[in-house]
Amino acid sequence: MSAVAVVGSLNIDLVIRAPHCPHKGETVIGGAFGMAGGGKGSNQALAAARLSAKSHIIGCVGSDDFGRRLKSVLTENGVDCSQLQTRNEAPTGTAVITVTDEGDNSIVISQGANTLLDDGAMTRAAEIFETSDAALFQMESPAQTVIAGLKLSRRHGCRTFLSAEPPYSLPKEVWGNIDYLILNEKALNFYAGHKQHKSIDSMADEIIGRGVKCLAVTRSSKGGMIFVKGGDNFTFDAFNIRSVDNTGARDAFCAGLCVGLCEGMPIRRAAKFASACGALACTKIGAHPSMPWRHQVSALLGEAGDDEYEL
Ligand code: RIB
Repeated sequence: MSAVAVVGSLNIDLVIRAPHCPHKGETVIGGAFGMAGGGKGSNQALAAARLSAKSHIIGCVGSDDFGRRLKSVLTENGVDCSQLQTRNEAPTGTAVITVTDEGDNSIVISQGANTLLDDGAMTRAAEIFETSDAALFQMESPAQTVIAGLKLSRRHGCRTFLSAEPPYSLPKEVWGNIDYLILNEKALNFYAGHKQHKSIDSMADEIIGRGVKCLAVTRSSKGGMIFVKGGDNFTFDAFNIRSVDNTGARDAFCAGLCVGLCEGMPIRRAAKFASACGALACTKIGAHPSMPWRHQVSALLGEAGDDEYEL
């Protein structure tokens, strides 16, 4: 069993379906409302556990109903919450999400207690890093904490994964501490310096040149691309599914890539495994409810004619 330490955000997602995301100044009459666990960190930790990894969450919630709800869902799913802090100074993070009939979304976050995750939390998690194969980060926690965590987890022998969204200007020193960087095309443009006229390949080369070992570019229904330092770049396909809500799909992809690689899958196989995880996350409404279980991933890969993924 692989072990994964996820450092990141926990939110309660308030989701409304709507015919389209509102434009500036517009009020849109939407449809059903729902509430579910979310936050990129907690989605990734939950997905890693459902994919059969030993999963740890390192983060902060408020001492309120939302925080208790998140902790209990994660615990019930086997995520270790020993380094999940409950803080009085701020409420649990919340995200207001509009999901369109095509399954696309737009998200506004109130970070709340997620902003309280500091360097000290990374030091206190040293024992978890020590016993984990990988550490997985996103950019919904304070940047200084992410930077400290990347360095510390590396020193403790973890492979480091950064799903660098929402985009944030990172200092140069960071890149060399990232083994696997996962970006969508928008974030790739941002980190490559908004050079919209450049091709994905040349922006990826630029980022790999900064010291990242492997870059995964996710492209929703177009699949994605993997760029490896000094190695074999390749594209992978998306699975053909009917998307009802793509919230959390990239989180499921990140967890899948991380768990797959920690289990020793070659990168091409891990990318396909991760792509199946991302696809399954689009088939249900809500982030937590849609994080895939291992048997579902094996079944989807099996349907696609691949029987190497049986449990
Ligand atoms: O990646 C999806 C997540 O982004 C949502 O669950 C929301 O909480 C935001 O953090």
